[in-house]
Amino acid sequence: MQVGARKMVVLGTGGTIAGTASDGADNIGYKAGQVGVQQLLGAVPGLARVAGGELVAEQVAQLDSKDMDFGVWLRLAQRCQAHLADPQVQGIVITHGTDTLEETAWFLRLVLEASKPVVLTCAMRPATALAPDGPQNLLDAFAVAATPGARGVVAVAAGVLHGAAQVRKVHPYRVDAFDSGDAGPLGWVEEGRVRLARDWPDAAAVYPGALAWLAEPAAAWPRVEVVMSHAGASGRLVDLLVADGIDGLAVAATGNGTLHQDLEAALLRAQAAGVRVRVTSRCALGRVLPRPGDALVADEAGLGAVKLRVSLLLELLAARKG
Ligand code: SIN
Repeated sequence: MQVGARKMVVLGTGGTIAGTASDGADNIGYKAGQVGVQQLLGAVPGLARVAGGELVAEQVAQLDSKDMDFGVWLRLAQRCQAHLADPQVQGIVITHGTDTLEETAWFLRLVLEASKPVVLTCAMRPATALAPDGPQNLLDAFAVAATPGARGVVAVAAGVLHGAAQVRKVHPYRVDAFDSGDAGPLGWVEEGRVRLARDWPDAAAVYPGALAWLAEPAAAWPRVEVVMSHAGASGRLVDLLVADGIDGLAVAATGNGTLHQDLEAALLRAQAAGVRVRVTSRCALGRVLPRPGDALVADEAGLGAVKLRVSLLLELLAARKG
């Protein structure tokens, strides 16, 4: 927290945390993104006390995060950037759907200078549930954002703090739906206090110029798709994507980056045609260990396919800008 900073910013994007169902016992038949962020905050006693100063809420979007798109990402990152530059702001909390939270977190990690905390939070139960998890998650996110020395893009859910690089949704129903894989959590939030397992993530943007490039009126995002290797895989989909003008492919390979021979042949054709191809493992844990002579570049960071796709988007964009 910056000395003297008195403002906490909350950016609403929708999700189950803002979802409503007609029956309090219904935890799956709800509509995400219905309750405004101001109303969400009003439902949690004690938030203002944790924030310790002015509370600023903005509705950046109101959607089910399965429908997340580049426009919302850009708007969200721009609002974060503007608030981070305000010396009065101590931290930012983002309410988000669980389904693509890890992709948004990774995108923000790549483009923001986050010397203050940017904390994503969410819920697995709608706001109307008999036992909604959103209010406690919000309170925990505020506790993280108000912690002296906190920085970087992080996520908090079910009392567990995750770094943007590691966080993954691993369960479609359980309230404790996120995991940080082999690395383990960044920490925990217990009764309003953060207990760190390791240091806060790096604050520096990986692509510092990216937001300015993306804000250019004619800017078009690169086209990157995810393909998966599996029993019976062919190269047909890859060939069709190349013919359609794809820029990049993030490949979820088997095991340690192995590929069905027919898919591999098509990926090598794609790469020879100028498509940027990156390979990760479809295994839930670990990372691909590259072998000498590999013709396709491996995801040694163990990001997994959806985050690798986000990295590739930024990598292509940076290459375009020279
Ligand atoms: C969403 O991702 O917006 C809906 C699902 C959820 O938040 O759990």
